[in-house]
Amino acid sequence: MLEHYLSIKNKLQDTSIKDIIYLDYVDSTNDYAHMLAIQGYPSGTVVVANRQLKGRGRQHNKWYSPQGNLYASILLKPKDINLEISAIIPAFTYLGAISSVCAISGVYNVKTTLKWPNDIVFKDRKLGGVLTEARISGNEIVFVIIGIGLNVNIDMSAFPEDIVQRVISLSHICGKVLDIPTLLLNILIKFDDFYKQIKTEGLAPIINVWLQNSSTLQRNVRVVDGDILYEGIAEGLDDMGRLLIRDFNGKIFHLSNGHLYFL
Ligand code: BTN
Repeated sequence: MLEHYLSIKNKLQDTSIKDIIYLDYVDSTNDYAHMLAIQGYPSGTVVVANRQLKGRGRQHNKWYSPQGNLYASILLKPKDINLEISAIIPAFTYLGAISSVCAISGVYNVKTTLKWPNDIVFKDRKLGGVLTEARISGNEIVFVIIGIGLNVNIDMSAFPEDIVQRVISLSHICGKVLDIPTLLLNILIKFDDFYKQIKTEGLAPIINVWLQNSSTLQRNVRVVDGDILYEGIAEGLDDMGRLLIRDFNGKIFHLSNGHLYFL
């Protein structure tokens, strides 16, 4: 496996991806990348692991992380980037998600879609997710970590009972075992393209690709954000990456957080 990652690193020369650190297992690739960021590792360091012992999802959920899936975290220390601080988490989450969707369709010809805010889905079953964490100081981004988890080679029968109805793996869709380093390479190539685009053109093109690949739009949804609940039609994203919900009285809400359910 290590040789595979060395060879994909060579194919990423001249991109913003500078190193790939491969681990057999780790608590969480996001936590490891966080530690590397503090130790001064450069922007473009990627941590990838065969399995995670304490994989984390959004909203303090656990991320089921056995061997056979893709777990990667990209450390960035963005310099010349013109984003509002409040748009950073959605921007990099969408960046990770659209890179994954484009790579999956490019390599395996499988059309996955995006469920707000961070899910990669196939026919409404969750195939993967993105967990973005950032350290901000004043108006400056010190670092961002974009964690991507994709169910790749796991057998459907191996998923825990409480989630098996809601999830899916790529190998199940494709009917064969897939090469994870190849998938990661293609995600990182897309990621680099979109990252360059965000630097030159801002968030708008990223939002457009997200919208084109979304399965959230024009559907009746409920978003639960702590004690607050919104119901209405998901109409789009605003220019800060917030979800636009039109409630059944016609009032528009701009949402940054929450868990979305289809009605
Ligand atoms: C979600 O949908 O809740 C986000 C899941 C993100 C999981 C990935 S796996 C790699 C990285 N390390 C983690 O602990 N989490 C992210």
